[in-house]
Amino acid sequence: MAQLWGGRFTKETVKDVFAFNESLSFDKRLFVQDIEGSIAHVVMLQKQGIITEEEKNSIVKGLTQIQEEVENKTLQITDEYEDIHSFVEANLIKKIGDAGKKMHTGRSRNDQVALDMKLYVREQILNVDDLLKELLQVLLRVMEENTNTYMPGFTHMQKAQPITLAHHFGAYFEMFKRDRSRLTDIYKRMNYCPLGSGALAGTTYNLDREYTASLLGFEGPTLNSMDSVSDRDYCIEFLNALSIIMMHLSRFCEEIIIWNSNEYRFVEMDDSYSTGSSIMPQKKNPDIAELVRGKTGRVYGALMSMLTTMKGIPLAYNKDMQEDKEVTFDAIDTVKSCLHLFTGMVDTMKFRKDIMEQSAKMGFTNATDAADYLVKRGVPFRDAHTIIGKLVLYCIDKNVSIDELTIEELKEISPVFEADVYEEISLKTCVEKRLTTGAPGPDKMCKVIQFYKEYLESENEEDMKK
Ligand code: ARG
Repeated sequence: MAQLWGGRFTKETVKDVFAFNESLSFDKRLFVQDIEGSIAHVVMLQKQGIITEEEKNSIVKGLTQIQEEVENKTLQITDEYEDIHSFVEANLIKKIGDAGKKMHTGRSRNDQVALDMKLYVREQILNVDDLLKELLQVLLRVMEENTNTYMPGFTHMQKAQPITLAHHFGAYFEMFKRDRSRLTDIYKRMNYCPLGSGALAGTTYNLDREYTASLLGFEGPTLNSMDSVSDRDYCIEFLNALSIIMMHLSRFCEEIIIWNSNEYRFVEMDDSYSTGSSIMPQKKNPDIAELVRGKTGRVYGALMSMLTTMKGIPLAYNKDMQEDKEVTFDAIDTVKSCLHLFTGMVDTMKFRKDIMEQSAKMGFTNATDAADYLVKRGVPFRDAHTIIGKLVLYCIDKNVSIDELTIEELKEISPVFEADVYEEISLKTCVEKRLTTGAPGPDKMCKVIQFYKEYLESENEEDMKK
């Protein structure tokens, strides 16, 4: 058991206590961030005349070597250390001797861990954003190829009005685009550096916090040292954004599972993204979509867990906050793998355009348009609604669609119907006439697609950091 403290203790920590208290088993993930933060800290200590140039050089060299050795596996992160901060400091002292003991001057593990976690979350925001962008590129490709692929649009899971596949995918494009903008907001809000806040009350050393903040790519230093060491809002905000991403993915998965079912057959999942049954030879299951839908729960769980952990904590740092890591890491890993697999699944999926179109034809999705046909010829809407309702009942009885009726049959229900009705309530007309911004009509849809293209081309990582 190797600890950074011990001077005031007369007894060894009980083994179980050490095991319960340790965080190395999970915070070793912050290894690179810990070294990056320490280098910035000692460079600043030297600039401020708190340590000598030689000491700084020796510390930076030692830290760099530790990083290399861990990365090429000549140095193992073994479990005798309490946390990653202890591991790095102890190994530095082993390597360079007394100069290593000065690294922690003017710093506490409280501001150190706050910094490490911020650096890590900040980087993960960019990674998740990249994955969202890859998904949007696939969605846009499907949209471009399907501005004329008709399908039924649903409300209450009942066929409602005809739309296109491009329109349906466009709805998800909007959702994931909002997710990206949420990430940008969080990045901007969190991008202030806690380093130099000390244990809670700053330090008496003349630290240049503006300088370390700029070395580490932050907007500036945080302005209240007590808040700095006990703020985990950015974890909660990120978990919230991740939860919303999962909610979007889960809804999409649910639809894909339905579309892939034997009853719908709107899509066919690629064999490489499907799984079989151990007993039923005919089965090809959408396990990936089901798992993404299922994993949504554990990401929501992480958000609830963090909110609950934080709710009773008095200022400033308390050990409860160590609980931020496992749930946040797990949620990040989960969302990243879900986004990656979901994107591949959609990219390889086949769309059964014929079946979608047939389904749109059969569900009276043009009933509103048939009512509008009468309205345009002078029938009040409420009467038109009743007339078409009766017409639908008649069709259900005969098991045909509205446009399969003869003009005589139509006229019997309303003399206002003329031969041009067939053209006016065709699937093509129903979709093409929906020309308002945001509607499935191909003219407007193509403009929206063009806008999305420019959005994807113009955006890059730099925008996020600005
Ligand atoms: N392992 C701790 C955490 O994750 C690091 C900070 C410890 N600070 C302390 N005063 N014990 O929160």
